[in-house]
Amino acid sequence: MSLLLLAFTFLLCRSPCDASVEKERTLAMIKPDGVFGNYTDKIKEVILESGFSIITEMVVQLDEGNATVFYVEHSHRDFFPGLVKYMTSGPVYIMVLEKVNAISDWRALIGPTDARKARISHPSSIRAMCGLDSEMNCVHGSDSPQSAAREISFFFGEMPGGIVRHEEL
Ligand SMILES: *[C@@H]1O[C@H](CO)[C@@H](O)[C@H](O)[C@H]1NC(C)=O
Ligand SMILES: *[C@@H]1O[C@H](CO)[C@@H](O)[C@H](O)[C@H]1NC(C)=O
Repeated sequence: MSLLLLAFTFLLCRSPCDASVEKERTLAMIKPDGVFGNYTDKIKEVILESGFSIITEMVVQLDEGNATVFYVEHSHRDFFPGLVKYMTSGPVYIMVLEKVNAISDWRALIGPTDARKARISHPSSIRAMCGLDSEMNCVHGSDSPQSAAREISFFFGEMPGGIVRHEEL
């Protein structure tokens, strides 16, 4: 009886349960230090080797207004002027990445925010490879499904009037 139930559940589950392994999209950015340091090709190689598809990509030069909007929740912080200066110091390379679990897998691949810590605890992470410290950390990744949606629309669609929020620099 219970075996039958199990088999039945399995059959019922098959298609709805596939929904839980749906592909997810996230925003990846190679920051000016990564682009200047000629890490773009190397990072894209790591991305593809790790099973992500690059859905779309572009080079953007952010201005002060763009950087301020992107990081607006940090605008009251001491490091904000330096952050805006850094993010506008050269082009950034923007990608939309797709795979199952893309948001947390990309975060895992880039490693801890502070590249100095990344070099110790996650030596094979992208930030360990090309980051300098907690601000000049070479790459960005959306930190939640909400951030991913907002950040992708920031670069590729309408800003839905919301604030782009992220704990992550
Ligand atoms: C930049 O990186 C590419 C491939 O990663 C390499 O072929 C090229 O020689 C590098 N250029 C410089 C200026 O280091
Ligand atoms: C950045 O701001 C400029 C106007 O200063 C605008 O033309 C451009 O579309 C903005 N870029 C992004 C990615 O929001």
